Amino acid sequence: MTDPSDSGVVSLSYALIKEKCPVFLSVYDEVLRLTSGIATVRYTMQDTLINDTWLLKKGAQVQMPTAYIHTDPSTWGADADQFDAERFLETKVKRLGREERVKRNAAFRPFGGGNVMCPGRYFTSHEVFGFVATILLGWDMEPSGGREWKVPDMDRSKLPLTSLKPQGDVKVRLLRRGGWEKKVFE
Ligand code: HEM
Repeated sequence: MTDPSDSGVVSLSYALIKEKCPVFLSVYDEVLRLTSGIATVRYTMQDTLINDTWLLKKGAQVQMPTAYIHTDPSTWGADADQFDAERFLETKVKRLGREERVKRNAAFRPFGGGNVMCPGRYFTSHEVFGFVATILLGWDMEPSGGREWKVPDMDRSKLPLTSLKPQGDVKVRLLRRGGWEKKVFE
């Protein structure tokens, strides 16, 4: 995030990305929402009645698959199964009613929740933001072998550790972006 006419090293600032790139952040959350393929697992410590309807007996194992929670239309709206790059934009979220916001916050669980929530989530966002921002700034990307983007479906045949992987490679051609050819990213 420096002037491309400078020569030399480009150092990306995580804090600046967070401050200045709201769509980028929204896309990150939206990708996590739609690709999350895990199930949070918990044991019930005591008989627990949920919503005055469902009794979970002490000692039961409760599995909460994010694939379901993250695409439930009663939480995310009629377009719950669609990718919406702007879904997590702060300006858009603020327009939701309070109840809806609370519901979505509770339902968004790519990193699990409670006191065992993934401690690696900050490390991960640093890695992803740095890598993706580098590619966006320094390179032009186009589909290899044609003009059309072919995005493979997610591979639902395997239970992932975290996010679902694509069924195949995404084949692209990367060209150094005009004016940024000599930049070194760190
Ligand atoms: C996109 C990347 C990642 C995703 C989606 C992810 C997701 C998760 C999830 C869903 C859990 C279970 C939390 C729960 O049961 O409520 C978890 C736990 C954990 N994750 Fe991650 N994780 C990611 C990256 C990382 C990284 C990079 C590290 C380490 C550097 C890490 C370390 C851990 C540890 C140690 C736990 C166990 C926490 C505990 O039981 O107290 N994760 N992660």
